[in-house]
Amino acid sequence: VTYKAPKGTHDILPDESAAWQRLERTVRSVMDRFGYDEIRTPLFEETTLFTRSVGETSDIVKKEMYTFTDKKGRSLTLRPEGTAPVVRAFVEHHLGRGRDLTKLYYVGPMFRYERPQAGRFRQFHQFGAEAIGSADPAVDVDVILLFTRILEEAGIAGLSVALNSVGDAACRPRHVAAIREALAPRRDALCPDCQERLERNPLRILDCKVPSCRELAEAIPSAIDFLCDACRAHEAAVEAGLAAVGVPFRIDKSLVRGIDYYTRTAFEIHHGALGAQNALGGGGRYDGLAAELGGPPTPGIGFAAGMERILSVLDKPATPRLPMVAILSHDAEGEAVARRLLYKIRTVTRAEHFGGEGNITKKFRKANDTGARLAVILFKDEIEDARKGVLTVKDLSGGVQEQEKQRKRSEEEFMTDLRDLVKREG
Ligand code: HAM
Repeated sequence: VTYKAPKGTHDILPDESAAWQRLERTVRSVMDRFGYDEIRTPLFEETTLFTRSVGETSDIVKKEMYTFTDKKGRSLTLRPEGTAPVVRAFVEHHLGRGRDLTKLYYVGPMFRYERPQAGRFRQFHQFGAEAIGSADPAVDVDVILLFTRILEEAGIAGLSVALNSVGDAACRPRHVAAIREALAPRRDALCPDCQERLERNPLRILDCKVPSCRELAEAIPSAIDFLCDACRAHEAAVEAGLAAVGVPFRIDKSLVRGIDYYTRTAFEIHHGALGAQNALGGGGRYDGLAAELGGPPTPGIGFAAGMERILSVLDKPATPRLPMVAILSHDAEGEAVARRLLYKIRTVTRAEHFGGEGNITKKFRKANDTGARLAVILFKDEIEDARKGVLTVKDLSGGVQEQEKQRKRSEEEFMTDLRDLVKREG
């Protein structure tokens, strides 16, 4: 073939669509029950939206953004994630006006120029939710439960929820100082990137994938050990809230998220089949983000999940389909009636026309191959009746041979039969 889908992207082929649609239905249904409304933001944004929020020193901004200049010289970036765009829209449209908490969700493609590997794509899909307006730890609990409920209803068993706190502006300086202190004597053992990170943003050393840096990172003091009183109380309240509902979780002191906007709560959900590197999804609090983007200071928390990763641990369902009606004709007159009926039957269910002057047995066989349950016959003898509104209908469910299953039905009765059939098969 001359053309292939670009590296790191993939077509979602017809036999995979049923699984995507089923997951999307589950997402929308649970989001609705938890009180979240859908928001759809553009696929590209001003580049600085992401550099300011996700962070200059993050891997996403440093290496992974699809950034381009448009014809007027503006720098734009295909969205690598959904939180910054949603908070941008929240601020731009004053979505919080008149309410304490704004609950939004999204489903759609994201773009990161990563090295393609298992579970990692350049165009991938996320669903996510953002609860903006409250610093109450009860909202953190609710967001985590929203995420676990979606995964449960999607059919995923064996979830593991990892929880951590990354502190806030009050306690972070002490943590950063402790990292610098711990690593300064080992500076030469860090990769060149991490030597720079040590100056600019030591927290990002925890994201480094170079093995020697990972080893050093294990000795780095954890944020949760440096929390101020307010952050500690918040973290304890989230733990208590999850425990009260009985959702299992574990504290993972080494859990860091590769994005700069996080404060306090950080969490990820993993699944045994995917390995530690590939989370099904993650999220956390971002109490400084709205202000960073020029809005009124507004706390928020959310999560996003990778849909490819979720689907990779689920079975593929068969495509649910409406019952099929075949219409068979043999000449121009039959063809004309067939076209009218096709258009009418398709108000209720699936229908296909098998016309032309070909072999009749072949037509029945083709109809059978499409899984047709009923056939409307419009050969020579049947056309006159059909014009008067009386159809010749044959039941194909027992195969095409059983001649006796042919019977006359008024067009209106037939339509009612079809509606009943569709309803029964729900
Ligand atoms: P994130 O951890 O960067 O967080 O991405 C969330 C999820 O998206 C990951 O756990 C993974 O399942 C999926 N994902 C990320 N990159 C890829 C990729 N290259 N290929 C396939 N799947 C991928 C965020 O995006 C935050 N916006 C989450 C959030 C919402 N925090 C607060 N609110």
